[in-house]
Amino acid sequence: MLIKRRLGWELPESQATPESVFFNRRAFLGAGAGLIAGAALPQIAAAQGTDPTLDLYPAKQNPAYTLDRPVTEADLAANYNNFYEFGTSKDVVGAAKRLQPRPWTIAIDGMVEKPFEIGFDDLIRKIPLEERLYRFRCVEAWSMAVPWTGFPLKALVELAKPQSGAKYVRFETFMNPRIAPGQSQRWYPWPYTEGLTMAEATNELALMVTGIYGKPVPNQHGAPLRLITPWKYGFKSVKSINKISFVAERPKTFWEGLQASEYGFWANVNPEVPHPRWSQASEQLLGSRDRRPTLLFNGYAEQVAGLYKGLEGENLYM
Ligand code: MTE
Repeated sequence: MLIKRRLGWELPESQATPESVFFNRRAFLGAGAGLIAGAALPQIAAAQGTDPTLDLYPAKQNPAYTLDRPVTEADLAANYNNFYEFGTSKDVVGAAKRLQPRPWTIAIDGMVEKPFEIGFDDLIRKIPLEERLYRFRCVEAWSMAVPWTGFPLKALVELAKPQSGAKYVRFETFMNPRIAPGQSQRWYPWPYTEGLTMAEATNELALMVTGIYGKPVPNQHGAPLRLITPWKYGFKSVKSINKISFVAERPKTFWEGLQASEYGFWANVNPEVPHPRWSQASEQLLGSRDRRPTLLFNGYAEQVAGLYKGLEGENLYM
């Protein structure tokens, strides 16, 4: 990633995966980044204090989803983000404060029985929330393990009542360059869009996320509603969604639009398929000095490998 400008495509691997930020927490705080982070946290808490969905947290944890590694510290996850609408650095907490997650309406349209719009605060009370511990693997070769709160995307698909001709689900992030300065950078194909096949969208793992670490999701993580597909690289997990469309054709995604030779539609995690500019064989755990071997489908092969039978000719792993 780190495609800041067109010329950024030529950035060396060492800059694509900056190791300096992966120190343990003490080193992280010592480096100064944590001081900014620490100052930001109370303000996030204050914003969450007025959140009308607070009574829904913490949601009951679903015991089906367990981890093979420790949960990442909340303040590390909350201060090392990719949210290009608010800048290309990992430190977007301050800039993302301009995002106003209320009022928030989600449009459901395209090939559905009847297109509709629904307020986020209504939607969240239609489908029971649960907490799931998931591994999360960024294409940049860093990873974390996070307790997300949300509801299965499958339940939202059922609510939308798609027509039989709908083959893909397309997700779109809000578009407002006045609050999101990154969206004034015209070389990016805004708004941020992502897509899944219907089979992927109705897989048990696909989660619409409303919360993290037992609280409503803060702005920098994609308030108020984002996607998490833990078997895919993190760029598929589109943030701050305000439109979900059911379509017949495969949607062009944000990163595909920017650099299709590096970021494809499928983006399934695979240690054996390198990114054109770096290896995917191992990953750096956020907050740790250790690298771990990358797992096929990020360790979720049992749940998702079957989705790709017969698609072997596709670029499934980039
Ligand atoms: N969604 C939007 N709208 N804009 C973004 O820049 N970045 C993606 C994804 N979703 C992104 C986005 C990438 S590259 C990653 S790795 C994850 O969000 C990061 O999620 P996190 O910041 O909550 O860890």
